[in-house]
Amino acid sequence: MVEPVSTTTARACANIALVKYWGKRDPRLNLPAAGSLSLTLDALVTTTEVGFDAGLAHDELVLDGAPATPTELARTTAFLDLVRAAARLTDRARVVSNNEFPTASGLASSASGYAALAVAATAAASAAGGAAVALSPRALSILARRGSGSAARSVFGGFVRMHAGNSEDGSDAFGEPLDSPLTERVRMVIAIVGGGAAKSHGSRDAMDHTAATSPLYRAWIELVPQDLATAEAALAAGDLEALGAVAEANALAMHASAIAARPAVIYWQPATLAALAEVRALRAAGRAAWATMDAGPHVKVLTTAGDAAGVAAALRAVPGVTEVSIAAAGGPAAVVSRPAPPSNKAGPRES
Ligand code: PMV
Repeated sequence: MVEPVSTTTARACANIALVKYWGKRDPRLNLPAAGSLSLTLDALVTTTEVGFDAGLAHDELVLDGAPATPTELARTTAFLDLVRAAARLTDRARVVSNNEFPTASGLASSASGYAALAVAATAAASAAGGAAVALSPRALSILARRGSGSAARSVFGGFVRMHAGNSEDGSDAFGEPLDSPLTERVRMVIAIVGGGAAKSHGSRDAMDHTAATSPLYRAWIELVPQDLATAEAALAAGDLEALGAVAEANALAMHASAIAARPAVIYWQPATLAALAEVRALRAAGRAAWATMDAGPHVKVLTTAGDAAGVAAALRAVPGVTEVSIAAAGGPAAVVSRPAPPSNKAGPRES
């Protein structure tokens, strides 16, 4: 009788950076050129199931119910190869990943995707009889970083600081959770612009292109440490206004560096600017509201639990904003189901 393949499922939340990661010092190991700081969000969840199976000829990946493209599959196989090497396992894996996002929105799901895959695949490899690869949260963050730089932050919940590190092997480039009195109070209002059409430039290529061609890139890299220090001091002091101000300024500086690249990388649509104007108007009217944007046209607004509904209603009324949702701080990536330990009768699989 062929035994059914046992699978392990993990869950991770995406994160939105308040001090952005935009540029690498090593593209192969995904080592950031500077640190970053983010908020993990409960409304943006990826659930990923992994089962290693000696009967498979190659890895399989189903994303949101459909077979992945060859490019997505190749990136996943490269990531699983790291787990196989650590576990001394040769079996291929079947990976089924689902995003519970506000919509098929073009919001970066690589952060939650690779954090969930790192957690599920390491646990599944141990369950499949590989050498134990039960990793510490820090080691999981380092592994997730190999899939996508921002994924290193999604291993943790709440506010997270990403260390750029300076070692060549990346052992000091990982995320670390930051305690703050703001964690419970903050909300992020996510305004989808343009119905979530696929973004024009992936972050991976666009940040490399900015680093290679933008006359503003050097200024951007010099700015980040100051913004990180300001953001960390604001978090420690529970000062949302100071955090919001530096987050909005930092996002605009990142986009300025991308816009100055040759040729330009412009993510904004007219409705992006209209939403930004609305955020400034909300602030002038006394609401807590500060905007940030990533590698797409959407606007995310840092606010409080008390102001979130009013901020969301105002953004819903902006022409070209197609969907608005409210997120609170999310928790760390975690295994949600794993195979039952082998019974005495079956015995552990021999390696
Ligand atoms: O890790 P990546 O390749 O998804 O890059 C993330 C880039 C930004 O979202 C624009 C900024 C950030 O720090 O998340």
